[in-house]
Amino acid sequence: SSKIYKEPFRPQFHFSPEKKWMNDPNGMVYYKGVYHLFYQYYPEDIVWGPMHWGHASSKDLINWEHKKIALFPDKLGLIFSGSAVVDIKNTSGLGTLENPPMVAVFTYHNMDGEKSGRKDFQTQGLAYSLDEGDTWQKYNGNPIIKNSAQKDFRDPKVFWNPETNLWNLVLVAGNHAQFFTSENLINWEFQSDFGQNTGAHGGVWECPDLFKLQVADSQEEKWVLLISINPGSPNGGSGTQYFIGEFDGENFKTNQKDIKWIDNGADNYAGVTYNNTPDNKRIFIGWMSNWIYARDTPTKTWRSAMTLPRELSLVKINNDYVLKSTAVNQLKSQLKQEYSHKNITLKPNKKVELNYPNFNQSEIDFTTEDKDLKLIFSNEAKDSLTIEYNAKQKTFSIDRRHSGIVNFEESFGKQIHKTAVPNIVSNTINYQIIMDWSSIEIFLDGGIYSFTEQIFPNKPYTILTMLSNENQEVKAFSLSYIKGIWNKS
Ligand code: FRU
Repeated sequence: SSKIYKEPFRPQFHFSPEKKWMNDPNGMVYYKGVYHLFYQYYPEDIVWGPMHWGHASSKDLINWEHKKIALFPDKLGLIFSGSAVVDIKNTSGLGTLENPPMVAVFTYHNMDGEKSGRKDFQTQGLAYSLDEGDTWQKYNGNPIIKNSAQKDFRDPKVFWNPETNLWNLVLVAGNHAQFFTSENLINWEFQSDFGQNTGAHGGVWECPDLFKLQVADSQEEKWVLLISINPGSPNGGSGTQYFIGEFDGENFKTNQKDIKWIDNGADNYAGVTYNNTPDNKRIFIGWMSNWIYARDTPTKTWRSAMTLPRELSLVKINNDYVLKSTAVNQLKSQLKQEYSHKNITLKPNKKVELNYPNFNQSEIDFTTEDKDLKLIFSNEAKDSLTIEYNAKQKTFSIDRRHSGIVNFEESFGKQIHKTAVPNIVSNTINYQIIMDWSSIEIFLDGGIYSFTEQIFPNKPYTILTMLSNENQEVKAFSLSYIKGIWNKS
């Protein structure tokens, strides 16, 4: 079960490493009742360094157990991001049918190669485990995919494709994605490129993922390609875009013209989804940080946390596809309702103040009419975090400029993060706000938009001020603050 840490800013129900530096989630796979989470890890310091794969496991995606480091750097290089599968049919021959191997495919980053000016310093390697992820052996024929002099060539995501009866692999090569196929996870055949002329290109492409989803309330199925880019996201720095299209096992095609982002906050990067989840759920976890200031955030014994695990789904709104994210159901079963105010009416320009001992450990859920709303979380240290929905302009903004400690890096508290939200189309709007000491996650209208940001308040927020504008009254329904069992003492 998860330990309760007491350090300032330590999340209580989000995954964070016991100590030292973490970045991307890696190797997410479900096997025999256990969700495995590997992650980019540097066990010697709280800044990025020679990468290992850290490891944790969970039965419910909320309470995590720390495991031994899974992969250490070796003479081929550091262990960068990648994925894992369970090779049920033992196509690789690395296990047996009775005890199929877990197989991880990751990027080797060769420092000497990079220093010597070569371009082929990133290759793809393989490792396997025959004891459900506890210990790992590197494959002795590594690398399994060599590099033909593409400077950035990394972050392989592998999955079984039941339509072609083959393994697929997608990785990124600088400004585009590349697709491969294999019968045995070891020998890979290049199939195609995607993306040189499509999507956002403000930075290098990283951490791809590819999966199929059914469109809600229809028989239609679409493939979703996730691509993280750094820099070039709407709020600066790191962000994750997605493409909706078709994939025949070899080529990805899309008619998409606009650029779509999985999250509109500043701190959700390098996210990918689980292989082999029960009920075919598409579960996503992102790294809750941004390369602009990831190394500077004001924590002392560890750095950074993952987003809440989220279930992804596809809906059609305004005749276009939208990728929705919602906190996984498992979160609900951990929650205990503490307060509820059935209905609140906000009079024109009149504040309503709600008090709670610690909003930084809460889930707040309510619905309002589709009207302007401002929410301000504050505390006795005079920190304030302001969230604002403008119904006429259809914009949503988060202002963390005065939210607490912001001066550890120049851009962190510089700007209001404002997003156009044209896909809010009903007469009411639901807000689900989840805070865990140093993070806020907002899911609007069941996750049609999500916003994830880090915050470092000097004291817990204890006051929530709600207000409308000068001209209108706003009704808020079924407002509740909920406390999780993780906070039971
Ligand atoms: C994304 C990333 C990946 C790389 C890893 C290195 O945050 O840059 O592309 O594999 O981090 O730690």
